[in-house]
Amino acid sequence: MSLILGIETSCDETAAAVVRDGRWVLSSIIATQHELHQPFGGVVPEIASRAHLERILPTLNQALHAASISWNALDAIAVGNRPGLIGSLLVGVSAAKALAWILEKPLIGIDHVQAHLYAPFLQPPTNPNTSASSSPASSSPWPPPESFPALGLVVSGGHTNLYRLDSPLSIHLLGRTIDDAVGEAYDKAAVILGLPYPGGPHLDRLAQQGDPSRFDLPRSLLGPDSLDFSFSGLKTALLYKVRGLPVLQNNQPRFLRSAADLSDQDRRDLAAAFQEAAIDILIRKLHRALDHLAQQNIHPRTLLIGGGVCANSLLRRRALEWGRQTGLRVLLSPLAYCPDNAAMIAGLAHHRLTASQLDDLYLPAFAAGG
Ligand code: KG4
Ligand code: ZN
Repeated sequence: MSLILGIETSCDETAAAVVRDGRWVLSSIIATQHELHQPFGGVVPEIASRAHLERILPTLNQALHAASISWNALDAIAVGNRPGLIGSLLVGVSAAKALAWILEKPLIGIDHVQAHLYAPFLQPPTNPNTSASSSPASSSPWPPPESFPALGLVVSGGHTNLYRLDSPLSIHLLGRTIDDAVGEAYDKAAVILGLPYPGGPHLDRLAQQGDPSRFDLPRSLLGPDSLDFSFSGLKTALLYKVRGLPVLQNNQPRFLRSAADLSDQDRRDLAAAFQEAAIDILIRKLHRALDHLAQQNIHPRTLLIGGGVCANSLLRRRALEWGRQTGLRVLLSPLAYCPDNAAMIAGLAHHRLTASQLDDLYLPAFAAGG
Protein backbone atom coordinates (compact mmCIF):
# COMPACT_ATOMS: atom_id res chain seq x y z
CA MET A 1 0.00 0.00 0.00
CA SER A 2 1.17 3.56 -0.65
CA LEU A 3 -0.05 6.96 0.47
CA ILE A 4 1.44 9.71 -1.68
CA LEU A 5 1.14 13.47 -1.44
CA GLY A 6 1.15 15.12 -4.88
CA ILE A 7 1.97 18.78 -5.51
CA GLU A 8 1.33 20.64 -8.78
CA THR A 9 2.18 24.29 -9.49
CA SER A 10 3.25 24.27 -13.14
CA CYS A 11 0.97 27.05 -14.37
CA ASP A 12 -1.85 28.90 -12.62
CA GLU A 13 -3.36 26.24 -10.34
CA THR A 14 -1.91 25.58 -6.89
CA ALA A 15 -2.82 21.95 -6.24
CA ALA A 16 -2.19 19.27 -3.63
CA ALA A 17 -3.69 15.77 -3.33
CA VAL A 18 -3.35 12.53 -1.43
CA VAL A 19 -3.72 9.31 -3.44
CA ARG A 20 -3.70 5.78 -2.14
CA ASP A 21 -2.16 2.92 -4.16
CA GLY A 22 -2.07 4.96 -7.38
CA ARG A 23 -5.85 4.71 -7.56
CA TRP A 24 -7.98 6.15 -4.77
CA VAL A 25 -8.05 9.93 -4.54
CA LEU A 26 -8.45 10.66 -0.83
CA SER A 27 -8.26 14.42 -1.42
CA SER A 28 -7.63 16.76 -4.33
CA ILE A 29 -7.46 20.47 -3.62
CA ILE A 30 -7.09 23.01 -6.44
CA ALA A 31 -6.71 26.73 -5.74
CA THR A 32 -7.19 28.50 -9.07
CA GLN A 33 -5.84 31.95 -9.87
CA HIS A 34 -8.10 32.70 -12.85
CA GLU A 35 -9.41 35.92 -11.35
CA LEU A 36 -5.85 37.29 -11.00
CA HIS A 37 -4.98 36.72 -14.67
CA GLN A 38 -8.35 37.61 -16.19
CA PRO A 39 -7.61 41.36 -16.62
CA PHE A 40 -4.55 40.43 -18.73
CA GLY A 41 -6.31 37.84 -20.92
CA GLY A 42 -3.64 35.21 -20.15
CA VAL A 43 -1.36 33.89 -17.41
CA VAL A 44 1.22 36.44 -16.18
CA PRO A 45 4.18 34.36 -14.92
CA GLU A 46 5.26 36.77 -12.15
CA ILE A 47 1.74 37.00 -10.75
CA ALA A 48 1.37 33.21 -10.96
CA SER A 49 4.51 32.43 -8.95
CA ARG A 50 3.65 34.99 -6.23
CA ALA A 51 0.13 33.58 -5.95
CA HIS A 52 1.56 30.04 -5.64
CA LEU A 53 3.73 31.23 -2.74
CA GLU A 54 0.67 32.59 -0.94
CA ARG A 55 -1.48 29.52 -1.59
CA ILE A 56 0.86 26.56 -1.29
CA LEU A 57 0.84 26.08 2.50
CA PRO A 58 -2.95 26.40 2.99
CA THR A 59 -3.48 24.08 0.00
CA LEU A 60 -1.13 21.43 1.43
CA ASN A 61 -2.78 21.61 4.85
CA GLN A 62 -6.23 21.30 3.27
CA ALA A 63 -5.18 18.23 1.27
CA LEU A 64 -3.92 16.42 4.39
CA HIS A 65 -6.96 17.49 6.40
CA ALA A 66 -9.46 16.40 3.71
CA ALA A 67 -7.72 13.01 3.45
CA SER A 68 -7.83 12.66 7.26
CA ILE A 69 -4.20 11.59 7.46
CA SER A 70 -1.16 12.84 9.34
CA TRP A 71 2.06 14.00 7.66
CA ASN A 72 3.90 11.00 9.07
CA ALA A 73 1.50 8.56 7.39
CA LEU A 74 2.77 9.61 3.93
CA ASP A 75 5.04 7.22 2.03
CA ALA A 76 6.40 9.77 -0.47
CA ILE A 77 6.17 13.35 -1.68
CA ALA A 78 5.63 13.76 -5.44
CA VAL A 79 5.81 17.02 -7.37
CA GLY A 80 5.28 18.10 -10.96
CA ASN A 81 8.78 19.43 -11.77
CA ARG A 82 8.38 19.83 -15.58
CA PRO A 83 7.26 21.34 -17.96
CA GLY A 84 5.76 24.71 -17.06
CA LEU A 85 6.49 28.25 -15.96
CA ILE A 86 9.81 28.04 -14.19
CA GLY A 87 8.94 30.45 -11.35
CA SER A 88 5.70 28.57 -10.69
CA LEU A 89 7.33 25.12 -10.81
CA LEU A 90 9.99 26.24 -8.33
CA VAL A 91 7.37 26.98 -5.67
CA GLY A 92 6.00 23.43 -5.79
CA VAL A 93 9.45 21.83 -6.08
CA SER A 94 10.79 23.83 -3.10
CA ALA A 95 7.77 22.91 -0.97
CA ALA A 96 8.14 19.23 -1.91
CA LYS A 97 11.86 19.24 -1.07
CA ALA A 98 11.25 20.90 2.29
CA LEU A 99 8.60 18.32 3.17
CA ALA A 100 10.69 15.38 1.96
CA TRP A 101 13.63 16.60 4.03
CA ILE A 102 11.72 17.35 7.23
CA LEU A 103 9.59 14.21 7.08
CA GLU A 104 12.46 12.02 5.79
CA LYS A 105 10.28 10.69 2.96
CA PRO A 106 11.25 9.84 -0.63
CA LEU A 107 10.93 12.66 -3.21
CA ILE A 108 9.62 11.95 -6.72
CA GLY A 109 9.66 14.49 -9.59
CA ILE A 110 6.93 13.91 -12.18
CA ASP A 111 6.45 15.16 -15.76
CA HIS A 112 3.07 16.82 -15.49
CA VAL A 113 2.13 16.25 -19.16
CA GLN A 114 2.73 12.52 -18.77
CA ALA A 115 0.72 12.64 -15.54
CA HIS A 116 -2.31 13.88 -17.53
CA LEU A 117 -2.31 10.41 -19.17
CA TYR A 118 -2.67 8.81 -15.74
CA ALA A 119 -5.76 10.85 -14.79
CA PRO A 120 -8.17 8.36 -16.49
CA PHE A 121 -7.06 5.75 -13.92
CA LEU A 122 -7.92 7.86 -10.86
CA GLN A 123 -10.99 7.09 -8.79
CA PRO A 124 -12.61 8.87 -5.89
CA PRO A 125 -13.04 6.55 -2.85
CA THR A 126 -16.26 4.54 -3.24
CA ASN A 127 -17.54 5.99 0.01
CA PRO A 128 -16.98 9.76 0.28
CA ASN A 129 -16.35 9.37 4.03
CA THR A 130 -13.69 6.75 3.38
CA SER A 131 -10.40 7.59 5.03
CA ALA A 132 -6.91 6.33 4.31
CA SER A 133 -7.25 3.39 6.64
CA SER A 134 -10.63 2.19 5.42
CA SER A 135 -10.64 2.88 1.65
CA PRO A 136 -11.07 -0.26 -0.44
CA ALA A 137 -7.93 -2.35 -0.60
CA SER A 138 -7.20 -4.35 -3.70
CA SER A 139 -4.48 -6.86 -4.28
CA SER A 140 -4.85 -6.77 -8.07
CA PRO A 141 -2.50 -4.40 -9.89
CA TRP A 142 -3.78 -0.98 -10.90
CA PRO A 143 -4.18 -0.01 -13.68
CA PRO A 144 -5.07 -3.47 -15.00
CA PRO A 145 -2.13 -4.73 -17.12
CA GLU A 146 -4.57 -5.56 -19.94
CA SER A 147 -5.04 -1.78 -20.45
CA PHE A 148 -1.71 -1.80 -22.32
CA PRO A 149 -0.43 -1.15 -24.90
CA ALA A 150 -2.43 2.05 -24.92
CA LEU A 151 -2.72 5.07 -27.17
CA GLY A 152 -2.51 8.33 -25.18
CA LEU A 153 -3.69 11.82 -26.09
CA VAL A 154 -2.89 14.86 -23.95
CA VAL A 155 -4.92 17.93 -24.90
CA SER A 156 -4.19 20.97 -22.77
CA GLY A 157 -3.41 24.67 -22.91
CA GLY A 158 0.27 24.01 -23.55
CA HIS A 159 0.35 20.58 -25.22
CA THR A 160 -1.28 18.43 -27.85
CA ASN A 161 0.67 15.18 -27.68
CA LEU A 162 0.04 11.65 -28.94
CA TYR A 163 1.75 8.76 -27.16
CA ARG A 164 2.10 5.01 -27.11
CA LEU A 165 2.18 3.62 -23.58
CA ASP A 166 3.41 0.13 -22.75
CA SER A 167 2.84 0.68 -19.01
CA PRO A 168 2.20 3.72 -16.77
CA LEU A 169 5.95 4.49 -16.79
CA SER A 170 6.81 3.44 -20.35
CA ILE A 171 5.62 6.36 -22.46
CA HIS A 172 6.73 7.07 -26.07
CA LEU A 173 5.89 10.30 -27.89
CA LEU A 174 4.35 9.74 -31.36
CA GLY A 175 3.39 13.30 -32.33
CA ARG A 176 2.98 16.82 -31.01
CA THR A 177 1.75 20.20 -32.14
CA ILE A 178 4.06 22.20 -34.38
CA ASP A 179 2.43 25.50 -33.41
CA ASP A 180 -0.52 26.20 -31.06
CA ALA A 181 -1.74 23.58 -28.59
CA VAL A 182 -5.42 22.80 -29.02
CA GLY A 183 -6.35 24.48 -25.71
CA GLU A 184 -4.35 27.56 -26.72
CA ALA A 185 -6.20 27.62 -30.05
CA TYR A 186 -9.52 27.41 -28.14
CA ASP A 187 -8.48 30.29 -25.90
CA LYS A 188 -7.38 32.43 -28.85
CA ALA A 189 -10.51 31.56 -30.84
CA ALA A 190 -12.57 32.63 -27.81
CA VAL A 191 -10.79 36.02 -27.80
CA ILE A 192 -11.52 36.39 -31.54
CA LEU A 193 -15.21 35.71 -30.80
CA GLY A 194 -15.20 38.20 -27.90
CA LEU A 195 -15.68 35.57 -25.16
CA PRO A 196 -14.31 35.90 -21.60
CA TYR A 197 -11.05 34.34 -20.31
CA PRO A 198 -10.28 31.46 -20.05
CA GLY A 199 -12.10 30.88 -23.29
CA GLY A 200 -12.11 27.10 -23.88
CA PRO A 201 -15.11 26.21 -21.69
CA HIS A 202 -17.06 29.31 -22.88
CA LEU A 203 -16.47 28.41 -26.53
CA ASP A 204 -17.52 24.80 -25.86
CA ARG A 205 -20.81 25.94 -24.28
CA LEU A 206 -21.55 28.38 -27.13
CA ALA A 207 -20.69 25.79 -29.79
CA GLN A 208 -23.31 23.41 -28.39
CA GLN A 209 -26.01 25.93 -29.43
CA GLY A 210 -24.67 26.53 -32.96
CA ASP A 211 -24.84 24.97 -36.42
CA PRO A 212 -21.39 23.57 -37.29
CA SER A 213 -22.20 23.33 -41.02
CA ARG A 214 -22.95 27.00 -41.71
CA PHE A 215 -19.27 28.04 -41.88
CA ASP A 216 -16.53 25.92 -43.41
CA LEU A 217 -13.20 26.00 -41.56
CA PRO A 218 -10.04 24.14 -42.66
CA ARG A 219 -8.52 21.04 -41.04
CA SER A 220 -4.75 21.06 -41.26
CA LEU A 221 -3.47 17.48 -41.14
CA LEU A 222 0.15 18.18 -42.27
CA GLY A 223 1.82 15.43 -44.38
CA PRO A 224 -0.22 12.29 -45.22
CA ASP A 225 1.51 10.20 -42.53
CA SER A 226 2.18 12.95 -40.00
CA LEU A 227 1.11 12.34 -36.42
CA ASP A 228 1.90 15.97 -35.53
CA PHE A 229 -0.78 18.61 -35.08
CA SER A 230 -1.25 22.17 -36.30
CA PHE A 231 -3.98 24.51 -35.07
CA SER A 232 -2.73 27.98 -36.00
CA GLY A 233 -4.27 27.89 -39.53
CA LEU A 234 -7.67 27.05 -38.08
CA LYS A 235 -7.40 29.96 -35.67
CA THR A 236 -6.41 32.38 -38.48
CA ALA A 237 -9.25 31.11 -40.70
CA LEU A 238 -11.69 31.87 -37.87
CA LEU A 239 -10.17 35.35 -37.47
CA TYR A 240 -10.80 36.09 -41.18
CA LYS A 241 -14.39 34.77 -40.98
CA VAL A 242 -15.06 37.09 -38.04
CA ARG A 243 -13.21 40.23 -39.17
CA GLY A 244 -12.94 39.76 -42.95
CA LEU A 245 -9.67 39.84 -44.89
CA PRO A 246 -7.38 42.66 -43.75
CA VAL A 247 -7.00 45.61 -46.17
CA LEU A 248 -3.99 47.91 -46.50
CA GLN A 249 -4.53 51.44 -45.16
CA ASN A 250 -1.48 53.71 -45.03
CA ASN A 251 0.61 50.58 -45.63
CA GLN A 252 -0.82 48.99 -42.46
CA PRO A 253 -3.10 45.91 -42.59
CA ARG A 254 -6.46 46.80 -41.02
CA PHE A 255 -9.62 44.84 -40.35
CA LEU A 256 -12.85 46.57 -41.34
CA ARG A 257 -15.09 44.38 -39.13
CA SER A 258 -14.90 43.35 -35.48
CA ALA A 259 -16.43 40.67 -33.26
CA ALA A 260 -18.96 43.30 -32.14
CA ASP A 261 -20.49 43.17 -35.67
CA LEU A 262 -21.46 39.50 -35.23
CA SER A 263 -25.03 38.54 -34.42
CA ASP A 264 -25.55 36.09 -31.55
CA GLN A 265 -26.42 33.40 -34.09
CA ASP A 266 -23.19 34.14 -36.09
CA ARG A 267 -21.18 33.76 -32.89
CA ARG A 268 -22.82 30.44 -32.01
CA ASP A 269 -22.38 29.05 -35.54
CA LEU A 270 -18.74 30.18 -35.77
CA ALA A 271 -18.01 28.60 -32.37
CA ALA A 272 -19.65 25.36 -33.54
CA ALA A 273 -17.63 25.37 -36.79
CA PHE A 274 -14.39 25.92 -34.86
CA GLN A 275 -15.21 23.17 -32.38
CA GLU A 276 -16.16 20.73 -35.15
CA ALA A 277 -12.88 21.35 -37.00
CA ALA A 278 -10.65 21.22 -33.90
CA ILE A 279 -12.13 17.94 -32.63
CA ASP A 280 -12.19 16.45 -36.14
CA ILE A 281 -8.41 17.04 -36.38
CA LEU A 282 -7.87 15.18 -33.08
CA ILE A 283 -10.05 12.22 -34.09
CA ARG A 284 -8.43 11.90 -37.53
CA LYS A 285 -5.00 11.81 -35.89
CA LEU A 286 -6.18 9.02 -33.59
CA HIS A 287 -7.09 6.97 -36.69
CA ARG A 288 -3.67 7.70 -38.20
CA ALA A 289 -1.91 6.71 -34.98
CA LEU A 290 -3.72 3.35 -34.97
CA ASP A 291 -2.69 2.73 -38.61
CA HIS A 292 0.87 3.77 -37.80
CA LEU A 293 1.10 1.36 -34.86
CA ALA A 294 -0.61 -1.45 -36.80
CA GLN A 295 2.24 -1.25 -39.36
CA GLN A 296 4.58 -2.10 -36.47
CA ASN A 297 2.22 -4.87 -35.39
CA ILE A 298 1.27 -2.95 -32.27
CA HIS A 299 -2.44 -3.05 -31.46
CA PRO A 300 -3.43 -0.76 -28.57
CA ARG A 301 -6.25 -1.95 -26.36
CA THR A 302 -7.09 1.34 -24.74
CA LEU A 303 -7.24 5.03 -25.57
CA LEU A 304 -6.34 7.34 -22.67
CA ILE A 305 -7.24 11.04 -22.88
CA GLY A 306 -6.25 13.70 -20.36
CA GLY A 307 -5.67 17.45 -20.07
CA GLY A 308 -7.93 20.49 -19.77
CA VAL A 309 -9.51 20.06 -23.23
CA CYS A 310 -10.57 16.52 -22.29
CA ALA A 311 -13.46 18.29 -20.52
CA ASN A 312 -14.73 19.31 -23.98
CA SER A 313 -18.24 17.99 -24.64
CA LEU A 314 -17.69 17.17 -28.34
CA LEU A 315 -14.31 15.52 -27.78
CA ARG A 316 -15.77 13.26 -25.09
CA ARG A 317 -18.65 12.24 -27.37
CA ARG A 318 -16.52 11.72 -30.49
CA ALA A 319 -13.83 9.80 -28.60
CA LEU A 320 -16.41 7.34 -27.25
CA GLU A 321 -17.84 6.93 -30.79
CA TRP A 322 -14.29 6.35 -32.07
CA GLY A 323 -13.87 3.63 -29.46
CA ARG A 324 -17.05 1.90 -30.60
CA GLN A 325 -15.81 2.00 -34.23
CA THR A 326 -12.30 0.78 -33.53
CA GLY A 327 -12.98 -1.61 -30.65
CA LEU A 328 -10.60 0.18 -28.27
CA ARG A 329 -11.68 0.85 -24.71
CA VAL A 330 -11.78 4.63 -24.27
CA LEU A 331 -10.82 5.94 -20.83
CA LEU A 332 -11.45 9.67 -20.45
CA SER A 333 -10.16 11.60 -17.46
CA PRO A 334 -12.97 12.16 -14.97
CA LEU A 335 -13.98 15.82 -15.31
CA ALA A 336 -12.47 16.66 -11.89
CA TYR A 337 -9.04 15.49 -13.09
CA CYS A 338 -8.99 17.07 -16.59
CA PRO A 339 -7.46 20.43 -15.61
CA ASP A 340 -4.11 20.63 -13.86
CA ASN A 341 -4.40 18.78 -10.55
CA ALA A 342 -2.12 17.05 -8.09
CA ALA A 343 -3.98 13.71 -7.89
CA MET A 344 -2.57 12.70 -11.29
CA ILE A 345 0.93 13.56 -10.02
CA ALA A 346 0.52 11.41 -6.89
CA GLY A 347 -1.11 8.60 -8.91
CA LEU A 348 1.72 8.28 -11.41
CA ALA A 349 4.29 8.63 -8.59
CA HIS A 350 2.95 5.42 -7.01
CA HIS A 351 4.51 3.51 -9.93
CA ARG A 352 7.82 5.32 -9.52
CA LEU A 353 7.83 4.49 -5.81
CA THR A 354 7.02 0.83 -6.53
CA ALA A 355 9.87 0.73 -9.10
CA SER A 356 12.21 2.49 -6.60
CA GLN A 357 12.76 5.28 -9.14
CA LEU A 358 13.31 8.08 -6.63
CA ASP A 359 14.84 11.53 -6.82
CA ASP A 360 16.99 13.38 -4.33
CA LEU A 361 16.97 16.88 -2.86
CA TYR A 362 18.86 18.18 -5.93
CA LEU A 363 15.73 17.61 -8.08
CA PRO A 364 15.63 20.48 -10.63
CA ALA A 365 12.59 22.17 -12.20
CA PHE A 366 12.54 22.31 -16.02
CA ALA A 367 10.51 24.68 -18.18
CA ALA A 368 10.51 22.09 -21.01
CA GLY A 369 9.40 18.45 -20.97
CA GLY A 370 6.42 16.32 -21.98
O1 KG4 B 1 -4.52 20.97 -18.62
P1 KG4 B 1 -4.85 22.40 -18.38
O2 KG4 B 1 -5.68 22.74 -17.16
O3 KG4 B 1 -3.59 23.29 -18.29
C1 KG4 B 1 -2.44 23.06 -19.05
O4 KG4 B 1 -1.64 22.20 -18.69
O5 KG4 B 1 -2.37 23.75 -20.10
O6 KG4 B 1 -5.61 22.91 -19.70
C2 KG4 B 1 -6.15 24.20 -19.80
C3 KG4 B 1 -6.78 24.38 -21.18
C4 KG4 B 1 -7.16 25.82 -21.46
O7 KG4 B 1 -6.68 26.16 -22.74
C5 KG4 B 1 -8.69 25.77 -21.44
O8 KG4 B 1 -9.31 26.75 -22.22
C6 KG4 B 1 -8.94 24.39 -22.00
O9 KG4 B 1 -7.97 23.58 -21.32
N1 KG4 B 1 -10.30 23.88 -21.71
C7 KG4 B 1 -11.20 23.58 -22.68
C8 KG4 B 1 -12.37 23.15 -22.01
N2 KG4 B 1 -12.14 23.21 -20.66
C9 KG4 B 1 -10.85 23.65 -20.49
N3 KG4 B 1 -11.11 23.63 -24.01
C10 KG4 B 1 -12.18 23.24 -24.73
N4 KG4 B 1 -13.34 22.84 -24.17
C11 KG4 B 1 -13.49 22.78 -22.84
N5 KG4 B 1 -14.64 22.36 -22.29
ZN1 ZN C 1 -1.60 20.45 -17.70
